[in-house]
Amino acid sequence: MKLTILVGTMTSTADYVAQAIEMDCADLVAAIEVRLMDDLDSGIFDVEKSNDTLYLICTSTYGSGDVPDNAQAFYESLAFQPQFLGHVRYGVIALGDSGSHQSTFCFGGKKFDERLRDLGAQRVGEICCLDASSEALPETAGVHWCREWLAKAGCEGS
Ligand SMILES: Cc1cc2nc3c(=O)[nH]c(=O)nc-3n(C[C@H](O)[C@H](O)[C@H](O)COP(=O)(O)O)c2cc1C
Repeated sequence: MKLTILVGTMTSTADYVAQAIEMDCADLVAAIEVRLMDDLDSGIFDVEKSNDTLYLICTSTYGSGDVPDNAQAFYESLAFQPQFLGHVRYGVIALGDSGSHQSTFCFGGKKFDERLRDLGAQRVGEICCLDASSEALPETAGVHWCREWLAKAGCEGS
């Protein structure tokens, strides 16, 4: 099983989380690829690509509960080029800040989750919310969550 992490970020925290997972979870999957969302469209979920791949959406939240700028086009493409994604298994790491944005906490990741579910994709596990107001380091909390999530998805080591 391969893991593809799709990163939506403004100030790189989500990218640091993805890179920490790439380093610390390599023993659980055959390969890990980290892709910034900038140039992506719904083609990333093509059936051949998705065959042996788990997807992890790792995105922050901006504006009032929006996906970050580098994720906008990809997020919109999932609406404008809708395709059935029943073959896709995915998880979500949503970054946000409950202290300053309680009413839209982690909406960036939650919006991706909603859209992927609408297209028939199957989420594995619960959404992992990483809170900038918490004392936990996002990289540490993200890796911890991801190891359990990969086990849940059936990845016990390659
Ligand atoms: C202008 C601005 C708007 C934000 N809006 C939200 C929001 O609506 N909801 C939320 O949960 N977090 C919000 N945040 C917090 C970020 O999502 C959080 O700090 C995150 O860790 C940043 O990750 P990044 O560096 O990968 O972009 C906002 C932060 C900024 C600076």
